[in-house]
Amino acid sequence: MAKFPDDIFTEPRDVDSNTLANLGPLRRLAGIWEGDRGVDVNPKADGPERRVYRERIEMQPIDPQANGPQLFYGLRYHIHINTPDEAITFHDQIGYWLWEPATGLVLQSLAIPRGQVAIAAGQASADATTLRLSATRGQTEYGICSTTFLEYAFRTDSYAIEVTFNPDGSWSYVSDTMLAVRGQADVFQHRDRNTLFKIAEPQPNPLALIAG
Ligand code: HEM
Repeated sequence: MAKFPDDIFTEPRDVDSNTLANLGPLRRLAGIWEGDRGVDVNPKADGPERRVYRERIEMQPIDPQANGPQLFYGLRYHIHINTPDEAITFHDQIGYWLWEPATGLVLQSLAIPRGQVAIAAGQASADATTLRLSATRGQTEYGICSTTFLEYAFRTDSYAIEVTFNPDGSWSYVSDTMLAVRGQADVFQHRDRNTLFKIAEPQPNPLALIAG
Protein backbone atom coordinates (compact mmCIF):
# COMPACT_ATOMS: atom_id res chain seq x y z
CA MET A 1 0.00 0.00 0.00
CA ALA A 2 1.35 3.43 -0.92
CA LYS A 3 2.18 5.87 1.85
CA PHE A 4 -0.58 8.44 2.19
CA PRO A 5 -0.87 11.39 4.57
CA ASP A 6 -3.00 11.22 7.74
CA ASP A 7 -4.84 14.33 6.62
CA ILE A 8 -6.99 13.06 3.76
CA PHE A 9 -9.08 16.24 3.42
CA THR A 10 -6.75 19.19 2.94
CA GLU A 11 -6.18 19.99 -0.71
CA PRO A 12 -2.80 21.26 -1.97
CA ARG A 13 -2.42 25.05 -2.05
CA ASP A 14 0.15 25.27 -4.83
CA VAL A 15 -2.26 24.43 -7.65
CA ASP A 16 -1.42 26.01 -11.00
CA SER A 17 -4.43 27.08 -13.03
CA ASN A 18 -2.63 26.30 -16.31
CA THR A 19 -3.03 22.56 -16.89
CA LEU A 20 -1.05 22.55 -20.15
CA ALA A 21 2.06 23.67 -18.22
CA ASN A 22 1.71 20.84 -15.68
CA LEU A 23 0.92 17.71 -17.65
CA GLY A 24 4.37 16.12 -17.33
CA PRO A 25 4.66 13.33 -19.90
CA LEU A 26 1.04 13.82 -20.99
CA ARG A 27 1.83 17.23 -22.48
CA ARG A 28 2.76 15.52 -25.73
CA LEU A 29 -0.73 13.97 -25.98
CA ALA A 30 -2.60 17.29 -25.82
CA GLY A 31 -4.31 18.37 -29.03
CA ILE A 32 -6.29 16.90 -31.88
CA TRP A 33 -4.81 13.95 -33.71
CA GLU A 34 -5.42 11.77 -36.73
CA GLY A 35 -3.94 8.53 -37.97
CA ASP A 36 -5.21 6.43 -40.86
CA ARG A 37 -2.93 3.41 -40.60
CA GLY A 38 -4.31 1.75 -37.50
CA VAL A 39 -4.41 -2.04 -37.34
CA ASP A 40 -6.92 -3.97 -35.24
CA VAL A 41 -7.04 -7.71 -34.57
CA ASN A 42 -10.40 -8.64 -33.06
CA PRO A 43 -12.17 -11.90 -32.21
CA LYS A 44 -14.69 -13.26 -34.72
CA ALA A 45 -16.47 -16.63 -34.79
CA ASP A 46 -14.23 -17.91 -37.62
CA GLY A 47 -11.00 -16.72 -36.00
CA PRO A 48 -9.08 -13.45 -35.68
CA GLU A 49 -10.15 -10.62 -37.97
CA ARG A 50 -7.55 -8.01 -38.98
CA ARG A 51 -8.80 -4.59 -40.03
CA VAL A 52 -7.06 -1.38 -41.00
CA TYR A 53 -8.64 1.69 -39.39
CA ARG A 54 -8.62 5.48 -39.34
CA GLU A 55 -8.66 7.24 -36.02
CA ARG A 56 -9.35 10.73 -34.70
CA ILE A 57 -8.46 11.61 -31.12
CA GLU A 58 -9.26 14.83 -29.31
CA MET A 59 -7.41 15.38 -26.02
CA GLN A 60 -8.17 18.63 -24.19
CA PRO A 61 -6.82 19.83 -20.83
CA ILE A 62 -9.23 19.81 -17.88
CA ASP A 63 -9.00 21.94 -14.75
CA PRO A 64 -6.76 20.54 -11.97
CA GLN A 65 -8.55 17.92 -9.90
CA ALA A 66 -7.85 17.02 -6.27
CA ASN A 67 -8.81 13.99 -4.17
CA GLY A 68 -7.97 15.71 -0.88
CA PRO A 69 -4.16 15.98 -1.02
CA GLN A 70 -3.88 13.98 -4.27
CA LEU A 71 -3.57 16.44 -7.15
CA PHE A 72 -4.03 15.51 -10.81
CA TYR A 73 -3.53 17.44 -14.02
CA GLY A 74 -5.14 15.78 -16.99
CA LEU A 75 -6.70 15.50 -20.39
CA ARG A 76 -10.23 14.52 -21.35
CA TYR A 77 -10.22 12.47 -24.54
CA HIS A 78 -12.52 11.13 -27.21
CA ILE A 79 -11.41 8.53 -29.73
CA HIS A 80 -13.46 7.84 -32.82
CA ILE A 81 -12.49 5.11 -35.25
CA ASN A 82 -13.88 3.95 -38.55
CA THR A 83 -12.55 1.88 -41.42
CA PRO A 84 -11.53 3.31 -44.83
CA ASP A 85 -14.55 1.63 -46.48
CA GLU A 86 -17.26 2.43 -43.90
CA ALA A 87 -18.26 5.71 -42.23
CA ILE A 88 -19.99 3.91 -39.35
CA THR A 89 -18.28 3.68 -35.98
CA PHE A 90 -15.78 0.84 -35.69
CA HIS A 91 -14.72 1.80 -32.17
CA ASP A 92 -15.56 4.69 -29.84
CA GLN A 93 -13.92 5.51 -26.53
CA ILE A 94 -13.90 8.33 -24.03
CA GLY A 95 -11.91 8.91 -20.88
CA TYR A 96 -9.18 10.78 -19.06
CA TRP A 97 -5.43 10.67 -18.99
CA LEU A 98 -4.24 11.91 -15.57
CA TRP A 99 -0.81 12.79 -14.16
CA GLU A 100 0.05 13.15 -10.48
CA PRO A 101 3.28 15.23 -10.42
CA ALA A 102 3.98 14.41 -6.75
CA THR A 103 4.34 10.67 -7.40
CA GLY A 104 4.73 10.16 -11.18
CA LEU A 105 1.46 8.21 -11.28
CA VAL A 106 -0.14 8.12 -14.75
CA LEU A 107 -3.74 6.96 -15.13
CA GLN A 108 -6.00 6.27 -18.08
CA SER A 109 -9.64 5.85 -17.23
CA LEU A 110 -11.54 4.62 -20.27
CA ALA A 111 -15.10 3.79 -21.22
CA ILE A 112 -16.33 1.86 -24.25
CA PRO A 113 -20.00 2.09 -25.25
CA ARG A 114 -20.58 -1.63 -25.10
CA GLY A 115 -20.70 -1.71 -21.31
CA GLN A 116 -17.07 -1.68 -20.32
CA VAL A 117 -14.83 0.56 -18.23
CA ALA A 118 -11.25 0.30 -17.00
CA ILE A 119 -8.66 2.27 -15.08
CA ALA A 120 -5.10 1.55 -16.16
CA ALA A 121 -2.11 2.78 -14.15
CA GLY A 122 1.63 3.23 -14.62
CA GLN A 123 4.56 5.34 -13.47
CA ALA A 124 6.53 7.82 -15.55
CA SER A 125 8.90 10.74 -15.22
CA ALA A 126 7.95 14.16 -16.58
CA ASP A 127 10.28 13.72 -19.58
CA ALA A 128 9.40 10.09 -20.33
CA THR A 129 9.36 9.06 -23.98
CA THR A 130 7.39 5.88 -23.28
CA LEU A 131 4.31 5.29 -21.12
CA ARG A 132 3.26 1.82 -20.00
CA LEU A 133 -0.06 1.35 -18.21
CA SER A 134 -2.10 -1.70 -17.33
CA ALA A 135 -5.39 -2.80 -15.76
CA THR A 136 -6.30 -6.23 -14.47
CA ARG A 137 -9.76 -7.79 -14.12
CA GLY A 138 -10.69 -8.52 -10.52
CA GLN A 139 -8.58 -5.76 -9.03
CA THR A 140 -10.56 -3.11 -7.20
CA GLU A 141 -7.94 -0.41 -7.78
CA TYR A 142 -6.72 -0.53 -11.37
CA GLY A 143 -9.29 -2.93 -12.78
CA ILE A 144 -11.81 -3.66 -15.51
CA CYS A 145 -15.59 -3.77 -15.16
CA SER A 146 -17.87 -5.21 -17.85
CA THR A 147 -21.45 -6.23 -18.57
CA THR A 148 -22.68 -9.64 -17.48
CA PHE A 149 -22.75 -10.70 -21.15
CA LEU A 150 -19.13 -9.66 -21.72
CA GLU A 151 -18.13 -11.53 -18.57
CA TYR A 152 -19.87 -14.62 -19.99
CA ALA A 153 -18.77 -14.43 -23.62
CA PHE A 154 -15.69 -12.18 -23.90
CA ARG A 155 -14.18 -12.01 -20.43
CA THR A 156 -11.57 -9.25 -20.40
CA ASP A 157 -8.72 -10.41 -18.19
CA SER A 158 -6.30 -7.55 -18.74
CA TYR A 159 -5.62 -4.39 -20.68
CA ALA A 160 -2.23 -2.82 -21.34
CA ILE A 161 -1.18 0.16 -23.41
CA GLU A 162 2.25 1.37 -24.42
CA VAL A 163 2.58 4.90 -25.81
CA THR A 164 5.77 6.03 -27.56
CA PHE A 165 6.49 9.69 -28.29
CA ASN A 166 8.24 9.99 -31.65
CA PRO A 167 10.95 12.60 -32.42
CA ASP A 168 8.77 14.24 -35.13
CA GLY A 169 6.01 15.05 -32.58
CA SER A 170 3.73 12.20 -33.57
CA TRP A 171 3.04 9.40 -31.08
CA SER A 172 2.28 5.71 -31.41
CA TYR A 173 0.42 3.25 -29.24
CA VAL A 174 0.06 -0.49 -28.98
CA SER A 175 -2.77 -1.79 -26.81
CA ASP A 176 -3.39 -5.39 -25.83
CA THR A 177 -6.74 -6.49 -24.44
CA MET A 178 -6.63 -10.14 -23.38
CA LEU A 179 -9.99 -11.82 -23.91
CA ALA A 180 -11.16 -15.22 -22.68
CA VAL A 181 -13.62 -15.96 -25.48
CA ARG A 182 -16.30 -18.50 -24.58
CA GLY A 183 -15.61 -21.86 -26.24
CA GLN A 184 -11.98 -21.08 -27.09
CA ALA A 185 -9.11 -22.79 -25.30
CA ASP A 186 -6.56 -19.99 -25.65
CA VAL A 187 -6.82 -16.43 -24.44
CA PHE A 188 -7.29 -14.07 -27.40
CA GLN A 189 -4.88 -11.16 -27.81
CA HIS A 190 -7.05 -8.28 -29.13
CA ARG A 191 -4.33 -5.89 -30.35
CA ASP A 192 -4.65 -2.35 -31.68
CA ARG A 193 -1.88 -0.12 -32.91
CA ASN A 194 -1.63 3.24 -34.61
CA THR A 195 0.47 6.40 -35.02
CA LEU A 196 -1.23 9.77 -34.51
CA PHE A 197 -0.30 13.06 -36.17
CA LYS A 198 -1.36 16.44 -34.79
CA ILE A 199 -3.94 18.39 -36.76
CA ALA A 200 -4.74 21.10 -34.15
CA GLU A 201 -3.36 22.48 -30.90
CA PRO A 202 -5.30 22.04 -27.63
CA GLN A 203 -7.47 24.79 -26.10
CA PRO A 204 -6.44 26.09 -22.64
CA ASN A 205 -8.46 24.62 -19.74
CA PRO A 206 -11.36 26.75 -18.40
CA LEU A 207 -9.52 27.88 -15.23
CA ALA A 208 -6.49 28.99 -17.28
CA LEU A 209 -8.77 31.13 -19.43
CA ILE A 210 -10.40 32.72 -16.35
CA ALA A 211 -7.02 33.31 -14.68
CA GLY A 212 -6.09 35.12 -17.82
C1 HEM B 1 -8.28 1.02 -31.22
C2 HEM B 1 -8.96 0.39 -30.32
C3 HEM B 1 -9.96 -0.71 -30.57
C4 HEM B 1 -10.59 -1.11 -31.71
C5 HEM B 1 -10.46 -0.53 -33.11
C6 HEM B 1 -11.43 -2.22 -31.37
C7 HEM B 1 -12.25 -2.91 -32.25
C8 HEM B 1 -12.96 -4.04 -31.93
C9 HEM B 1 -13.78 -4.80 -32.85
C10 HEM B 1 -13.98 -4.46 -34.32
C11 HEM B 1 -14.32 -5.84 -32.16
C12 HEM B 1 -15.26 -6.92 -32.70
C13 HEM B 1 -16.67 -6.46 -32.47
C14 HEM B 1 -17.72 -7.42 -33.00
O1 HEM B 1 -17.39 -8.48 -33.48
O2 HEM B 1 -18.88 -7.06 -32.92
C15 HEM B 1 -13.84 -5.74 -30.81
C16 HEM B 1 -14.16 -6.60 -29.79
C17 HEM B 1 -13.93 -6.38 -28.46
N1 HEM B 1 -13.17 -5.38 -27.92
FE1 HEM B 1 -12.21 -3.96 -28.98
N2 HEM B 1 -11.30 -2.47 -30.03
C18 HEM B 1 -10.42 -1.57 -29.51
C19 HEM B 1 -10.00 -1.46 -28.20
C20 HEM B 1 -10.55 -2.18 -27.17
C21 HEM B 1 -10.24 -1.94 -25.79
C22 HEM B 1 -9.28 -0.86 -25.28
C23 HEM B 1 -10.97 -2.83 -25.06
C24 HEM B 1 -11.08 -3.04 -23.59
C25 HEM B 1 -10.28 -2.54 -22.68
C26 HEM B 1 -11.72 -3.63 -26.00
C27 HEM B 1 -12.56 -4.66 -25.67
C28 HEM B 1 -13.19 -5.49 -26.57
C29 HEM B 1 -14.01 -6.62 -26.21
C30 HEM B 1 -14.29 -7.09 -24.79
C31 HEM B 1 -14.43 -7.21 -27.40
C32 HEM B 1 -15.29 -8.47 -27.54
C33 HEM B 1 -16.74 -8.15 -27.46
C34 HEM B 1 -17.39 -7.99 -28.80
O3 HEM B 1 -16.94 -8.58 -29.79
O4 HEM B 1 -18.38 -7.28 -28.85
N3 HEM B 1 -11.43 -3.20 -27.27
N4 HEM B 1 -13.04 -4.64 -30.69
